[in-house]
Amino acid sequence: MLLKGKNIVITGAGRGIGKAVAIACAKEGANIGLTSRTVEELNNTKKEIEELGIGVKVIVKTANIIKYEEVAEIFKMFHDELGLLNGIIANAGASGRWASHEFDSEKFSQIINVNILGVFNTFKAAYLYLKKDDKKEKARFLITGSAAYPNAMPQFAAYTASKYGVVGLLKEFVLEYKRENITFNMILPTMVDTKLLRGKKAGDGNKPDNMMHPFELNEYYIFVMSDDANRVNDELISTNDFQVVKNIINETPSEKRKNWEAFSKILEEKAPKVHSNVKKQKKLVEFFLNRTN
Ligand SMILES: NC(=O)c1ccc[n+]([C@@H]2O[C@H](COP(=O)([O-])OP(=O)(O)OC[C@H]3O[C@@H](n4cnc5c(N)ncnc54)[C@H](OP(=O)(O)O)[C@@H]3O)[C@@H](O)[C@H]2O)c1
Repeated sequence: MLLKGKNIVITGAGRGIGKAVAIACAKEGANIGLTSRTVEELNNTKKEIEELGIGVKVIVKTANIIKYEEVAEIFKMFHDELGLLNGIIANAGASGRWASHEFDSEKFSQIINVNILGVFNTFKAAYLYLKKDDKKEKARFLITGSAAYPNAMPQFAAYTASKYGVVGLLKEFVLEYKRENITFNMILPTMVDTKLLRGKKAGDGNKPDNMMHPFELNEYYIFVMSDDANRVNDELISTNDFQVVKNIINETPSEKRKNWEAFSKILEEKAPKVHSNVKKQKKLVEFFLNRTN
């Protein structure tokens, strides 16, 4: 188990990516704090974790992520019930699709607020309770960004602007807290079969082939929360790039993918641009190599 005994809080954990990641972290032995606005969904996530019979603690608290007082209150409760927090996954998000000239301004600011102010509130409220006394086991603050950074999507003005904005927020955190034992990273998923993207059709079994299942993202989150990533900081992890890496790992004979040094040459030959993008993230490539070998 890669996360045994760690305390991890996940926002937006009632459905979609947050739910899948919460279950995956619990399977790796973490105690979990779950939050969103919808208690029924959170209780479903909790139930699915409890049915695994692993015996980890699961705490459910509701809050509107854009209201700081509510977020501060639930983090105090997570700390009271779990103890110091090893990792936070700031994942709650909202989206909406309209041409910019028809985009309702209220809706626009709601999306910006959930996706930027929500992440800010999460960090501000969690900071006091992060376990940051050990440089060998740094606290993790991991944000779910989007491939909308840096590839803007037409008709998603608020969403694209928010996902660019939250990269700025990450850079700010990295600078401000560089002397503390906290790492800040971001996963940038492409299209995922969730309510945010497919509404009520999410999970109906008819997703387009180029769309990921939420659970296909689990390994990225587990990696960043794990001890392997203790020195991984200020990284924007593109699932697009790593999908290419994973495909090449799968088609490479095992003797040529024993470690980064061996595999790097193959990757550079087959996908030079991806190689150049991920070589700074070789710890994650190694993580995928180890899980395949
Ligand atoms: N799906 C994709 O294609 C895709 C691609 C790239 C990145 N992402 C990112 O992935 C993250 C998770 O999204 P998802 O795709 O899993 O969507 P989802 O299934 O709609 O889940 C979104 C989660 O965020 C919570 N949330 C939304 N507004 C909130 C608020 N004001 N306060 C508290 N919680 C709130 C929702 O719960 P309540 O509504 O009950 O509060 C829900 O649990 C988002 O940051 C999104 O931008 C998604």
